[in-house]
Amino acid sequence: MKLLVVGGGGREHAIIKKLRENPEVTEIFALPGNGGIARDATCVDIGAKDIDAIVKFAVENKIDYAVVAPDDPLVLGCVDALNEKGIPCFGPKANAAIIEGSKVFSKDLMKKYGIPTAAYEVFTEMNGALEYLKTAPIPTVIKADGLALGKGVVIAMTREEATDAVRSMMEDKIFGESGSRVVIEEFLTGPEVSVLSFTDGKTVVPMVSSMDHKRALDNDEGLNTGGMGTIAPNPYYTAEIADVCMKTIFKPTIDAMNAEGRTFKGCLYFGLMLTPKGPKVIEYNCRFGDPETQVVLPLLESDLLTVMKATTDGTLTEDMVKFRDGSCACVVMASAGYPQKYQTGYEITLPETVADRVYVAGAKLVDDKLLTSGGRVLGVTGTGETLPEALNAAYQAVNEISFENAFCRKDIGARALKALN
Ligand code: AMP
Ligand code: GLY
Repeated sequence: MKLLVVGGGGREHAIIKKLRENPEVTEIFALPGNGGIARDATCVDIGAKDIDAIVKFAVENKIDYAVVAPDDPLVLGCVDALNEKGIPCFGPKANAAIIEGSKVFSKDLMKKYGIPTAAYEVFTEMNGALEYLKTAPIPTVIKADGLALGKGVVIAMTREEATDAVRSMMEDKIFGESGSRVVIEEFLTGPEVSVLSFTDGKTVVPMVSSMDHKRALDNDEGLNTGGMGTIAPNPYYTAEIADVCMKTIFKPTIDAMNAEGRTFKGCLYFGLMLTPKGPKVIEYNCRFGDPETQVVLPLLESDLLTVMKATTDGTLTEDMVKFRDGSCACVVMASAGYPQKYQTGYEITLPETVADRVYVAGAKLVDDKLLTSGGRVLGVTGTGETLPEALNAAYQAVNEISFENAFCRKDIGARALKALN
């Protein structure tokens, strides 16, 4: 079988490594992939947003099955376009990917179907938003409607920060059209949990839970990033809470999407907050999370390709998806300065002994050397029977890897360990 994976980060590297475990897979093309993925797949220099070129490549190379991993191509209709040419895909069609592509859509969906989430207002005019902020409860949360590279959310601790955020989104258009509508929502508190799920539009099967670490620096300080590390499972997410989430959030969301004529197939990501009033949805993503995937897939015992194809064919069952006991941790090694300005082009020393459990996010191959090429460079993982073992394994590997200006958080999993004790 010839597979194609759209995307080129650590998440795609983890997906590709897992897909390779299936003996029927003969070749995997990554579009565009990266210098680390090149060890595990054939990288082709086609951007993840270049839908026409992706489809042309898939047809010409007689691809049997495609996995569209990032949000942009999903929202742009990559799955629809590939399906039109008869190529089956993992991932939602554009009319379902909107659950991530528009915050206004997802908030209105939750309101309409009674799915617990933060109270909110939508604004299409800046003056209305600014007027509302004069009396809104503070802290408050401002969200750009559309995709914004994971940066479209501002937690405003003061009224001034809130109005600044609205102005920069709606007046200065720092996120372009994504900010032409904004959601202003209630500030929630509680531990956060990421739950990725497989769904064929009828059955929804949650994967092992995980915890992201979004801030750049230790103790959850510094700027928001794409994610500096993850652990799985998330100790806050008990079996009891999982039951509540299935009944009040997961199943109702799948049903709501069907009722809207927007059947969702693929990986639906639930970003949850366990508030004092119960679990609430912070965000939906229409795809695997990054770097959640890097800790979830190593614990997946079942064959990934089989499960993915079942979501496409509508034959998914709960028994098909098995996770092993134990824990997995991922520590992101980033370039100093990330998520702001940083330098690239430094050689990465990556010993063979640990390369197996390193997912490459931002590196390119030049003359057989792996050079840094992004803010987040590597996702270094460890697995173990327990979370402390997994964390030890991950940090030990980090110590064996080096590149100039590398930095990572030293406290990945610390909060989870506290919860366990
Ligand atoms: P997002 O970019 O949607 O993943 O949001 C980034 C982060 O903002 C989330 O992981 C939460 O920590 C935080 N956040 C989003 N919405 C809320 C909210 N209503 N209340 C408190 N924190 C929030
Ligand atoms: N780690 C959060 C995300 O993938 O959006």
